[in-house]
Amino acid sequence: MLLQRLALLVAWVSQLYADAGAALSGDQSSRLRIKWQASIREARLSSNDKGVSPPHPITAGRTTQLLYCRIGIGYHLQILPNGTVGGVHEHTEYSWLKVFAMKQGVVGVQGLKSGLYLCMNRDGVSHGLSLFMADCLFRESLEENHYTTYSSFSYPGFYLALSPRGEARKGGSVSKLQPCTHFLPRSGVQ
Ligand SMILES: *[C@@H]1O[C@H](CO)[C@@H](O)[C@H](O)[C@H]1NC(C)=O
Repeated sequence: MLLQRLALLVAWVSQLYADAGAALSGDQSSRLRIKWQASIREARLSSNDKGVSPPHPITAGRTTQLLYCRIGIGYHLQILPNGTVGGVHEHTEYSWLKVFAMKQGVVGVQGLKSGLYLCMNRDGVSHGLSLFMADCLFRESLEENHYTTYSSFSYPGFYLALSPRGEARKGGSVSKLQPCTHFLPRSGVQ
């Protein structure tokens, strides 16, 4: 039953494309092609194990910034050269980050000094990777309290978070209602 329906759908869609191809001017069909390519890109982005390296940000890149987390005594996120992600009270050279938009509301975060991308794996563990892939995409949301949260694009409901001691917390063990997930992006001159 389901297979039959699927076959019908496929037939219908290919007919639609055939009709469209015949009827459309070159300009319109090239627009269709662009749409098609965009949806393929989208599919690649949503696949967890396929690399999407190098990243192609949709913006030229925002200013370098710090991500301040209001948990405990307050920490600046940092990505160390060995891939360790954590927080440090007084920001270091590893706290300067480049946050770039990959699509509307979805960003990548790169440590300026380490060159590593902030990523979260399927266990909710945050770490820095030199290869940009789907695990390195985060939804950036401005919450009602004016703090910003970063949730994994690949694993919805997983949030970037620090512990009261400034260690990275597992993304699946926290909620966006907890201060440990609340960040304040601060731009500045390095
Ligand atoms: C990464 O480097 C930091 C700072 O040098 C160190 O404290 C930490 O133990 C290292 N972590 C690993 C997994 O090597």
